[in-house]
Amino acid sequence: MENIMTNRLDRGFIKYQKEFEDAAIRVLRSGYYILGKEVEEFEESFASFAGTKYCVGTGNGLDAITLACRAIGIGKGDEVIVQGNTFIASVMGITIAGGTPVFAEPDEYFALDPDEIEKKITDKTKAVMVVHLYGQTAQMDKISEICKRHGLKLIEDCAQAHGAGFYMEGGDKGFKGVGTFGDIGCFSFYPSKNIGAFGDGGAVITDSEEYRDRVRQLRNYGSSVRYHNEEVGINSRLDEMQAALLKVRLEHEEECRLERQQVAAFYDSAIKNPLITLPKRRKDATHVFHQYVIRCERRDELADFLKGKGVGTIIHYPIPPHLSKAYEYLGVKKGSLPFTERLATEVLSIPMYTGITNEEVRRVADALNAFK
Ligand SMILES: Cc1ncc(COP(=O)(O)O)c(C=O)c1O
Repeated sequence: MENIMTNRLDRGFIKYQKEFEDAAIRVLRSGYYILGKEVEEFEESFASFAGTKYCVGTGNGLDAITLACRAIGIGKGDEVIVQGNTFIASVMGITIAGGTPVFAEPDEYFALDPDEIEKKITDKTKAVMVVHLYGQTAQMDKISEICKRHGLKLIEDCAQAHGAGFYMEGGDKGFKGVGTFGDIGCFSFYPSKNIGAFGDGGAVITDSEEYRDRVRQLRNYGSSVRYHNEEVGINSRLDEMQAALLKVRLEHEEECRLERQQVAAFYDSAIKNPLITLPKRRKDATHVFHQYVIRCERRDELADFLKGKGVGTIIHYPIPPHLSKAYEYLGVKKGSLPFTERLATEVLSIPMYTGITNEEVRRVADALNAFK
């Protein structure tokens, strides 16, 4: 029997192969490869999909976060409150822009706990960054309200949550997509993401013309008019090939999102093992299941057991950013974020991807149920 891998990107390609190949050939034959009409069209479609006025494509998700931080004015001495349990890129975006990350604990749904934010506010706090980790929207009614009340900017790291959102009450009533709650939203199109490119890609979304223009300038050497460089920028442009291929992904986003949600519903009902905690669903939030993340106190033993049964798993993430060598200089000691640190020893992502078969998900659930 073939092993079940944590992810199979070939399945998502084969499903729409002809459309991807047609798009790629169109770009190859066009003679335009950087900042042309494919990128413009994708930016327009993605903004409309996400529910904002503007979208600016970038070379990857890390640059999207870095440029978003720079655009909203994060610089030296500015503190940004961010959850401890995230992929290190969220934090690197802040520090590359010159800011200082201040870590706060997540809630039991794996995103920034609103009750932890106010404990971390100082007179240097400029912004809050929320990460819709694994694809489930954070508690955005409370988080938006706290940011407004304290006059803090709100950045959303939506790298894992394309298409997710939150049902708001009150003045902002109704469904709002991730990336639209605060000042600026950041996406990654890394190939394994729910909307994945065939190489690197990213984007920033915003309703602010000022932030849009600033990110556009920063991604292109700080220049809006060719050879007129207003500030020190970087080279981080989504290319025509990725934009054309991403348009195909976007057209099939709903179908792929529903497929992931069905797989998650199957796991929810089929995995019955008292040693395993299934991912909790937040009321009023939607979850697009970039990852299906379980918890187990004997996580490493479980991963080995599953490997023996031909089921691949991966840990998102084994070392929280504050305990990484890169951020030793911040001086945030082990033990200072107990829940974040506990999650790093318990979380395990099980197979979840476009094109996973019923037989495969059944085998994954059976293997999990056999663990004693
Ligand atoms: C939560 C999160 N933020 C940021 C990133 C950075 O994206 P990229 O790899 O495109 O730079 C990723 C993915 O890699 C991510 O999962």
